[in-house]
Amino acid sequence: MFITLEGIEGSGKTSLLKALEKKLQSKGFKVCTTREPGGSSLGQKIRPLLLSLKEEKLSARAELLLFLADRAEHVEKVILPAIERKEVVLCDRYIHSTLAYQGYARGLDKDFLKSAIDFACINTMPDMTIVLDLDVHIGLTRAKGRNENLKSDEGKFEAEEKNFHEKVRKGFLDMAEKEEKMKVVDATLAPCEIEQIVWKILVEHFKL
Ligand code: TYD
Repeated sequence: MFITLEGIEGSGKTSLLKALEKKLQSKGFKVCTTREPGGSSLGQKIRPLLLSLKEEKLSARAELLLFLADRAEHVEKVILPAIERKEVVLCDRYIHSTLAYQGYARGLDKDFLKSAIDFACINTMPDMTIVLDLDVHIGLTRAKGRNENLKSDEGKFEAEEKNFHEKVRKGFLDMAEKEEKMKVVDATLAPCEIEQIVWKILVEHFKL
């Protein structure tokens, strides 16, 4: 089982990830919980280049290539070995983030992106993708509050204008309409409700 969580800033992916990890472990599964960017040791070095407000704004193409370098290393060193060990892989953001952010929002060519993504991830596709969907304004307010609390300087994407995030949101919804293995969940529901809905999706999909 390779499961990815996607959504705009502040959609609550990280809390859901933790809840799902616990639930799967309580059912006896071994779980590999990871994220992009930053899921490998190279990725940890790349992450600040992409997200820190202290770094200069990158060109869209350089940004894409850094996300893909992060992914190539992550897939080869972390995701595929975990799949080999028969662990459930839970990943916070993956290929659909690249398509939504670098494709729908930054405007890079989607066909090129698809081939580049396939190359970087050696065609390792998720078995199920959950999209946590919510209004952009609510998401950004949540995400900015979180960054301030954590005293984090990872605010490059949060600093993009509202219209950018509207395009990202539309991208996720658009892809989910076309892909059977992508399910949209209302991220404004209570965390325990979200967890129940997502668990039901996983039970049905993977016949748990
Ligand atoms: P992160 O801290 O993981 O954000 P969040 O907590 O909202 O999940 O930061 C990842 C940021 O990188 C997020 O704004 C989305 C962006 N991103 C891309 O633009 N392309 C990608 O391929 C990936 C994986 C992430």
